[in-house]
Amino acid sequence: MTANNRIVSGMRPTGPLHLGHYFGVLVNWIDFHKDHDCLFFVADWHALTTEYADPQRIKGFVPELVKDWVAAGLDPNRCVMFQQSQVKEHAELNLLLSMITPVSWLERNPTYKDVRDQLDGTKDLSTFGFLGYPVLMASDILIYNPKWVPVGHDQLPHLELTREIARRANHLWGETFVEPEAKLTQAPKLPGLDGRKMSKSYGNAIYLGEDPEAIRKKVTGMVTCVKRVRLKDPGEPDECNLFPYHQLVTPAAEVAEVACACRAATMGCGDCKKKMFANLLNFLEPMQARRREFDQDPDLAWDILKNGNDKAREAAAVVMDDLKGKLNFC
Ligand code: TRP
Repeated sequence: MTANNRIVSGMRPTGPLHLGHYFGVLVNWIDFHKDHDCLFFVADWHALTTEYADPQRIKGFVPELVKDWVAAGLDPNRCVMFQQSQVKEHAELNLLLSMITPVSWLERNPTYKDVRDQLDGTKDLSTFGFLGYPVLMASDILIYNPKWVPVGHDQLPHLELTREIARRANHLWGETFVEPEAKLTQAPKLPGLDGRKMSKSYGNAIYLGEDPEAIRKKVTGMVTCVKRVRLKDPGEPDECNLFPYHQLVTPAAEVAEVACACRAATMGCGDCKKKMFANLLNFLEPMQARRREFDQDPDLAWDILKNGNDKAREAAAVVMDDLKGKLNFC
């Protein structure tokens, strides 16, 4: 075990990334990768726990996720980007840790109960793999012995389980694992188009790679401040669903102007949306340009992953060799 500033995190390849992912997660990753030893991975095995009936779909989303990351500003030369299923040590550690993880810990996991109980009838999640998801997640993390794991609040129970599993392994087999700490990412700063959490399944998301005309239609249809029934009714930006978008993509001076004009009822919501839309496009354009470069070279995303897989394997072997030595399984 060494003192380190390593960070490990993963995302499931289940769809294109939207603004909620960007401002909730990616901004932090981009920040961290400037001065930390970062490993970011495409969690394709994790996607299989729920999407096991459609593996072809997962495969399609693997390079797309890498494109979204790089387009958003993650530099593959400053971090390791890899594909979970190509680093077999994750599976090997999963097997070993499953030997010492009590089933009752997994059954108590609130995410397990929530997701299983919200079944819409199309998926059967009463599987061994879905119950064992937190053990695989613990393996993804502990195989690199990172100091931190950036996660949202919803993943906290999983990280707590990771720490408990690490403690138990250290106790039974000898000090091998660092107990990783959560680096909590803020609750999403951006609501969806309708005011609920931005999510693909609610159909209220704007995607990072989305076509400008499609975005324009979505912005035009957005729910704004309920106080502004008529143009001459003064509005309240702090209660408006559009205003958080301005706060993230519009230059500060213009944000102040917009807020003033809304409260004074001198500008309508339609004009306010047009201004936000123009700024949103300015914000997305550099990302979309980087994405277009990617599309010139169909192998680029896979090449980035191949290179990252090699580096991740090397790092994983260090911890795996240490553990196998302790277990006398060399
Ligand atoms: N469970 C995470 C999610 O659904 C993805 C994930 C898998 C992960 N393994 C991880 C995140 C390890 C951080 C560290 O978002």
